[in-house]
Amino acid sequence: MGDEAKGSKVVEVLTWKDRRAKMEKVCFGCHAESVVTGHYKQFDDVVDLYNDKFAKPIAAMMDRLKEGGYITGAPFDEKIEWTWWEIWHHEGRRARHGASMSGPDYTWWHGMYEVAQHTYFKWIPELKEVVIKKDGNEEFAVALLEEYFKPIDGHDWYFNGMSKEQLEVVRKGFEARYGEGSLK
Ligand code: HEC
Repeated sequence: MGDEAKGSKVVEVLTWKDRRAKMEKVCFGCHAESVVTGHYKQFDDVVDLYNDKFAKPIAAMMDRLKEGGYITGAPFDEKIEWTWWEIWHHEGRRARHGASMSGPDYTWWHGMYEVAQHTYFKWIPELKEVVIKKDGNEEFAVALLEEYFKPIDGHDWYFNGMSKEQLEVVRKGFEARYGEGSLK
C-alpha cells in the first residue's frame, strides 16, 4: 500500500478471497445463496481434483525425469513433454475453465475425461518408454508411479483394481439417483 505504480498510488491490495467476495455480491443480485456457493464449490473441487490428482504429481515426475537424464533439458523435444503440456494446457485448462463457466460438457468430455484418459493411456506408457530407452527396464517408471500416484486415493484403482465394496458404493450411488435395479 502506498507504493507508486504506473503513475498512481496503490490504495488497496485485494486477495483472491476479497475478489471472490466482491464477485459473489454481484451473483447474489440475481441468485439464491445456494446457487452461488454451489457453483463455487463445484468450480473449486474441479480445480483441486485436477491439481492434486494429476498436475502436481505429474509435474514432479517430469522434473525427476529431467534430473535423471531420461529426457533432455529442452522443453518440447520429447513426445511425453507434449502429452504433459496438453494434459495441462489443453484438456486440463478446458476442464477448469468449463467448471468456471458452468459448462458440463467442457468440464467432463473435453476436460477431465481426457485428462484421465491421456494420463493413464498416453502419459504413463510414454513414461515407461523413456525409462526403458535409457535403462533397458521400467523399474524407475514404476518407482515414480508408486511414489507420486500410489498415495493418492483417486489412483487406487490403477494399482489395486476395484474391490467388491467399491463397486457396491458405485451401485448405491447410481441407485440413489436412478432407482433400485437401475445398474445391471
Ligand atoms: C443479472 C442476473 C444474473 C447475475 C448477476 C448472475 N446470474 Fe447466473 N443466471 C442468471 C439467469 C437468468 C440464469 C438462467 C439462464 C438460463 O437458464 O438460460 C443463470 C444461470 C446460472 C447458473 C446455472 C443454473 C442452472 O440451474 O443451470 C449458474 C450456476 C449461475 N447462473 C451462477 C452465477 C454466478 C456464480 C454468478 C456470479 C458470478 C451469476 N450467476 C450471476 C442470472 C444472473
